[in-house]
Amino acid sequence: MRISVIGCGYLGAVHAAAMASQGHDVIGIDVDPVRLGALREGRVPFHEPGLEQLLSEGMSAGRLRFSTQIADAATAQVHFVAVNTPQRLGGDEADLGYVEAALRSLAPHLARGALVVGKSTVPVGTARRLAPLLDGRAELVWNPEFLREGHAIDDTLRPDRLVYGVGDDPDAAERAQTLLDAVYAPQLAAGVPRIVADRETAELVKVSANAFLALKISFINAVADVCAATGADVNLLADAIGHDARIGRRFLGAGLGFGGGCLPKDIRAFGARAAELGEEAIGSLLREADRINLGRRHRAVELLRTALSSEPGAAASADQGGDLRGRRIAVLGLAFKPDSDDIRDSPALSVATELALLGAEVVAHDPHAVPKVRAARPELTCVDTAADAVVGADAVLVLTEWREYRELDPAALAATTPARLVLDARNCLDPAAWRAAGWDYRGLGRHEQALGALVA
Ligand code: NAD
Ligand code: UDX
Repeated sequence: MRISVIGCGYLGAVHAAAMASQGHDVIGIDVDPVRLGALREGRVPFHEPGLEQLLSEGMSAGRLRFSTQIADAATAQVHFVAVNTPQRLGGDEADLGYVEAALRSLAPHLARGALVVGKSTVPVGTARRLAPLLDGRAELVWNPEFLREGHAIDDTLRPDRLVYGVGDDPDAAERAQTLLDAVYAPQLAAGVPRIVADRETAELVKVSANAFLALKISFINAVADVCAATGADVNLLADAIGHDARIGRRFLGAGLGFGGGCLPKDIRAFGARAAELGEEAIGSLLREADRINLGRRHRAVELLRTALSSEPGAAASADQGGDLRGRRIAVLGLAFKPDSDDIRDSPALSVATELALLGAEVVAHDPHAVPKVRAARPELTCVDTAADAVVGADAVLVLTEWREYRELDPAALAATTPARLVLDARNCLDPAAWRAAGWDYRGLGRHEQALGALVA
């Protein structure tokens, strides 16, 4: 099939490359000449495992090209709209200006019988409201995307489910379903569940899924605080409740909380849209999840202050309530999650920035996010290796759970710094191994003593 993907960011670039890999003839369109220039040269302008390979395979097979000109998409039978829907400045609502602009620019170029498929995350009612922008030239359906950064290719090629949100006209809906079935033929052949619904349901499925994930994370983080207050261990607790199939262990990782380009903005937009509809309950639930989540960042900073003021030789700063001024803090991790260089609403970057503002000498490392951090926060010092960051540090903070940090050798690091205080804000290290190497290990809601071995 001939496909266009309008908006080639994290979602669109992956979708374009993945669709080309399953034999479709794909053109990616973006208004950002820098992003497009990189993609044209086969370079991915962000870190996503496996994407560069998929991109170069598609381009060399002649099935994938990129353009800044929407007119170049004119021959496509299916147009996927994957532009950004950020939080509106000064409000909680989604800014739909980019979706509107994309649909307006596409409308004059639509071929007869073409289908326009929204993939961006939008408030319920958007497809119905924006369909007239296509001037009756094509049907507008919504097919939300559930990929996770860091796993984006696998999630696109092997999704948990496909959701089609189709319009009211039964014939148009059937044509749309037939075209989407052809696009996703390999997924359907592999047995991926397909839910065909109205557009409103499809739009709501997406934001509800993200809201549920956010609630799950904030729930475990709220429980983590009770663990911390009582000497219980939130990781063991999550393992135990996670064995209940009705609950499940995934997204019960307590620590610094959620960030990124989706969960935070999507829960706010969901609450705002529900309030517009006169429905307040979901917004108040999600506002509390948001509040708990943002509180994790502050809590990590406070824990560090407390830990530093109780370290031997810290008497002077203890008098000032754990003064961070002049303390050298090794920050491990700046991306909002591992296997991504995305720093949009990154909890790690927000903590690192706050520490620097409080006068700490922050020396940060991240395996992939450093170029983006240097552009966004030039005041932060970034080094090439985790070990370089740790040398001589008064404290080590793990803020993103990259695999390479889990695999650090605590004994080798202990030899490079006399302070040996580690705050594992992602609860991803092995407390017993770090303590055995002489570190004062602290987690966010983990037992002061490593009881895991006893319980196991
Ligand atoms: P992004 O900012 O990385 O990419 C959006 C791209 O669209 C940018 O390159 C921008 O230049 C381009 N664009 C904007 N207006 C355009 C126009 N009129 N014509 C052509 N291109 C245009 O955003 P993203 O993270 O890829 O997210 C895109 C959408 O997908 C959002 O609605 C997001 O909520 C949703 N989503 C994202 C993910 C994810 O993991 N990032 C997952 C699922 C859903
Ligand atoms: C999310 C949704 O998972 C995905 O389905 C949707 O399409 C886009 O938004 P993404 O933002 O890529 O994906 O990352 P995700 O893996 O969901 O993690 C989001 C945030 O939650 C990260 O900051 C992560 O560190 C945090 N998180 C995740 C936790 O704090 N604890 C967990 O147990 C899981």
